Amino acid sequence: MQIYKVGGAVRDRLLGKPVTDIDWVVVGATTEEMLAKGFRPVGADFPVFLHPKSGEEYALARTERKSGRGYGGFTFHASPEVTLEEDLIRRDLTINAMAEDDQQNLTDPYHGQRDLESRILRHVSPAFAEDPLRVLRVARFAARYAELGFTVAPETLDLMRQLSESGELEALTAERSWKEISRALMEDQPQVFIQVLRDCTALKVLMPEVDALFGVPQPEAHHPEIDTGVHTLSVLEQAALHKQPLTVRWACLLHDLGKGLTPEEEWPRHIAHEHKGLKLIKAVNERFKAPKDCQELALLVGQYHTHGHRALELKPSTLLELLQSFDVYRRPQRFEEFIAACEMDARGRKGLEQRSYPQADYLRGAATAARSVAVQPLLEKGFTGPELGEAIKRERLKALKAYKEAASA
Ligand code: CTP
Repeated sequence: MQIYKVGGAVRDRLLGKPVTDIDWVVVGATTEEMLAKGFRPVGADFPVFLHPKSGEEYALARTERKSGRGYGGFTFHASPEVTLEEDLIRRDLTINAMAEDDQQNLTDPYHGQRDLESRILRHVSPAFAEDPLRVLRVARFAARYAELGFTVAPETLDLMRQLSESGELEALTAERSWKEISRALMEDQPQVFIQVLRDCTALKVLMPEVDALFGVPQPEAHHPEIDTGVHTLSVLEQAALHKQPLTVRWACLLHDLGKGLTPEEEWPRHIAHEHKGLKLIKAVNERFKAPKDCQELALLVGQYHTHGHRALELKPSTLLELLQSFDVYRRPQRFEEFIAACEMDARGRKGLEQRSYPQADYLRGAATAARSVAVQPLLEKGFTGPELGEAIKRERLKALKAYKEAASA
């Protein structure tokens, strides 16, 4: 049997990037031989094994044939006769279809190295269409390598468009899609992921609610970029520039969905878009089974981002309601993430990226003021049950009034 390093490990070494996990392909071996060498099989009929010591993935060279719709519809053909070239041709991108032996000799039948040098993400063969998840993968690689100047080859974008229009993307499971989406959002240029999905019409299938924001105007006085889709991409770009966590990035992507529902005759104003957007945010959250913290923050940011921007004008009672909605007493981190998302929203406007956002510190101060109310003295006064709750609220309101007065003095 011959063993080669394949995929991302070869690509990233040639790019001079750190290699984290290594995938191997084994040519000329049978399952029985692998088991005899102590490799542990992954799943029942999948020709992939884990190395007994390193735990790295070793896959038997294989060809795949599609036997039905969706990822479930695969039959694998792995046998000792399958050549390295046959294995490589069924992979997604030329830059991912190179193999290397233990002497670092490169096998590159589909010109991955040439495409690496010319910064092109190009599919290897029509077998690309066997797995529609690759549409998301290509968009994710475009986001990751945008800083190096990579773009998607026109013929690959065409194929991605065909796949998107064929209905194949709808067969993807929430789990597989979310894995790609969440990884793409954590790249340095996540806005490129969304842009590429839009360019190949996949965005319309995956997140029609986000796609609908393009072409929707906002008032130029607040939003010099005007277009809501362009704004959303800029907010995401700011979130990445400021190294925000996934929760914040997800909330940034979805915060303005309500603007896609505004009747044209009301443009460029978007009355109550915060509230109208909630059902859309919920739908996207559930479609991809986003983790609970992402779901929660997206809904809260959707509902309250305008409150964040108007923080300095809010009445103490409204400030209190905001803090209560976030349960800032038990979940201080979530409120911090809300503040961050609001700030990214404000910075994601053309020409206003560097403008300071005093609302952030003001909101932090308000949270500290409300949290500083001590419960013990109220207990000592004999308050219990719902009356205690009311008393705490009154004290917090007092604290917020004093805070607001002090801040505006
Ligand atoms: N691959 C593919 N189609 C997929 C998934 C994987 O063709 N849907 C192939 C590619 O050759 C890829 C390799 O399997 O390079 C390993 O896949 P994976 O570990 O998911 O990705 P990497 O390319 O290693 O990239 P990353 O750095 O994002 O992990």
